[in-house]
Amino acid sequence: MRTARPRHYLMCRPTHFDVVYSINPWMDPAKPVDTQLAITQWEKLREVYLSLGHTVDTIDPLPGLPDMVFAANGATVIDGRALVARFRDAERIAEGPAYHDWLRDNGFPDLRTAHVVNEGEGDYLLAGEWLLAGTGFRSDPRSHDEAQEFFGRPVIGLTLVDPDYYHLDTALTVLDEQTIAYYPAAFSPGSLAVLRRLFPDAVIATAEDAAAFGLNATSDGHNVVLPHNATGLTEQLRARGFHPIGVDLSELLKAGGSVKCCTLELRTAAQSHDPA
Ligand code: ARG
Repeated sequence: MRTARPRHYLMCRPTHFDVVYSINPWMDPAKPVDTQLAITQWEKLREVYLSLGHTVDTIDPLPGLPDMVFAANGATVIDGRALVARFRDAERIAEGPAYHDWLRDNGFPDLRTAHVVNEGEGDYLLAGEWLLAGTGFRSDPRSHDEAQEFFGRPVIGLTLVDPDYYHLDTALTVLDEQTIAYYPAAFSPGSLAVLRRLFPDAVIATAEDAAAFGLNATSDGHNVVLPHNATGLTEQLRARGFHPIGVDLSELLKAGGSVKCCTLELRTAAQSHDPA
């Protein structure tokens, strides 16, 4: 029997969403984007969270920042403390201060902007006591030390090797404190060996489910919200006693993002652990 724990999420409406530059292989500025459809799909995701009993705050979208919808990248928030992102790409740098100020003014005054490139929960995922940390494309490997010092939690560095899976949250999802799902081919041989050692019972995703961004999911411990066309993963989750909920975020995938990318978890001290 799996238990859901209510979550506190921060999201950003894709009011100014577009694909006008390319900083990952999914982004093709020549392909048309339907911003209205992106907004409709995003609203549906928000409604799913509210129907599950989660709290959803929103940050005001800023014009000229078409990727700001991907709130996961704005920070990592654990034990009520926020390590705010420092983006790699010039196109997204101004998002950092926007997330910083929102967090400072909305209950997270204990915060700091990362000194080296750190793309927040895009690359940092809390799994029980461990903070899993991606590098290879975006977050600087030195950001792993910085995060370990800041949070006082053991950071497990993982190297990504496939440019299609450029952030950790595109290749791995945390389902509960002990359970993760991941796509093995996205990781270096050493990092894959680490994952096998720490999570021998992990759910292993296929190439098809990874390409559908099935690993870009959120979980409350029971309900797993994921792209609806990750059908194999959906079945595996059901077999493990989770309750998968499929959503369609096809417009946002044109920028290389989906469910998790749109969702930043805000954890107070009490919300940083699941009850044993
Ligand atoms: N276009 C965005 C970028 O390349 C997508 C970010 C997706 N966010 C995530 N958490 N993986 O930065």
